[in-house]
Order: sequence, then C-alpha cells, then structure tokens
Amino acid sequence: MLFQCVLSSLLVFAFTATVPSQQKPTFCHDLDCPNFTTVQSFKDYELRKYDSLKWVATNVTTMEYTDDINREMFFRLFYYISGNNSAAMKIPMTAPVLRTVIHGQGPTCEATFITHFMIPHNMQTNTPTPTDPKAYLVTIPGKNFYVKSFPGRPTDQDNVEKVEELAQEIGNPNLYLDNYYFTANYDGPYAIHRHNEVWLESTSAGSRMLG
Ligand SMILES: *[C@@H]1O[C@H](CO)[C@@H](O)[C@H](O)[C@H]1NC(C)=O
Ligand SMILES: *[C@@H]1O[C@H](CO)[C@@H](O)[C@H](O)[C@H]1NC(C)=O
Ligand SMILES: *[C@@H]1O[C@H](CO)[C@@H](O)[C@H](O)[C@H]1NC(C)=O
Repeated sequence: MLFQCVLSSLLVFAFTATVPSQQKPTFCHDLDCPNFTTVQSFKDYELRKYDSLKWVATNVTTMEYTDDINREMFFRLFYYISGNNSAAMKIPMTAPVLRTVIHGQGPTCEATFITHFMIPHNMQTNTPTPTDPKAYLVTIPGKNFYVKSFPGRPTDQDNVEKVEELAQEIGNPNLYLDNYYFTANYDGPYAIHRHNEVWLESTSAGSRMLG
C-alpha cells in the first residue's frame, strides 16, 4: 500500500515535470520563435518536440560553404522580410536562423545547405510568397529533435564538432537520423551573449523509447 502511494506520487511528479512548457524560451528575447516541448533533458543535451511550422527558405548545393554563400542566402531571406514578397510588406524578424545541412551522396562531398527564417506565428496562414524565385515557403513538419546548446560565434567547423559531440552523447546511432542536421543561431550580429544549437532528428526508435 505504501509502495503504491509512493509510486503514484512519483508518477504525478513525473507527469508535472513533463507537462508541455510552451512559454517562449528566454534565448528568443523579443522575437517570435518556434514553440517546443522539452520531452526529456539529459546532462549535455535535450530531446524537444517541435510543432509543424512554415518557414521561408533558400538553398545551395556546394562542395565548399563559404562566408559569401552564407551571406547571400541570408540576404535573400532578409530581402523577403524587407518587402520583396507578394504583399510588398515588411515582415518581423524571427529566431532562429535555421540551417539544414544535408550530407552529399557519393565521392564529391557536395552538401546541400538550406537557410530558413521562421514565418511569424500570426502570419503562418496566408503567408506572402517571395518574389525572388530562389526563395520559397516550406513547412517543416512537427518532429522530435535532439538539441545541444552552446554559446559563442560558431564557425562551420565548430558546428560540425558540436554535431559530432551530440551524436557521441546520444550514444546510440539508431536513435537519430545521420544524413542531415540543423544548426540554429538566435542572435543578431552584435549580440554579446549568443545562443546556438545543433539538432539531430530523433528516429521513431528514439520517440518510442521515451514512450
Ligand atoms: C506558440 O507561441 C506563441 C507565443 O510565443 C503563441 O502565440 C502561439 O499561439 C503558440 N502556438 C502554438 C501552436 O502553441
Ligand atoms: C527587391 O527586389 C528588387 C528586384 O529584384 C531589388 O531591386 C530590390 O532592391 C529588392 N528590395 C529589397 C528590399 O530587397
Ligand atoms: C532548393 O531550391 C529550389 C528552388 O530554388 C527548390 O526547387 C528545391 O526543391 C530546393 N531543394 C531542397 C533540397 O530543398
């Protein structure tokens, strides 16, 4: 009887501890950013559940991702929110700048890089379309991601190292997809305290394990 009481109060505790916390994370500051629920926290990373969201995106496939390419993609999206869209309207900046890195197949080592800006929550429907043909709207479906956060101004190489650390920390390659990853940067160019993340998509094995 006692055991049962202890067990049920533990269950209540576990339940309240994982109740969806949908309030805006502090690292988004005053910007709109994706809502997520922390499914489970680990020592050096966490598993988050994200809802489906619409983004504006642009991509490049290249063997060498240079600063110039990075800037060009950023500005293509920046022009979209500055007024180069079907409604000729200014759209508020959001966070993060989310970048997909899809590893190439075969010997050339080409990878596809997709830069995304989130569409503000109140513009997710009837979203103006980009006038630049290289920019497009895309919905990233709701999924679970393993997320590792870190400060600073990461280079491309730093991001790769963080993804490798995250994979090591997860420790079981069946739990995440290894053909692509996301990088997320939340701060403008002049911010001092910077929040960055790398994300690996949880497989259904990962989600099942956590019930
Ligand atoms: C996400 O959070 C914003 C506030 O940050 C809120 O306005 C919006 O309704 C939320 N969306 C969902 C689907 O919970
Ligand atoms: C919008 O696009 C036009 C033509 O491509 C360009 O001349 C103009 O500078 C752009 N404006 C903004 C705000 O990006
Ligand atoms: C890259 O962008 C083009 C449009 O410029 C689009 O047709 C294509 O689907 C995009 N590729 C990926 C992998 O998203």
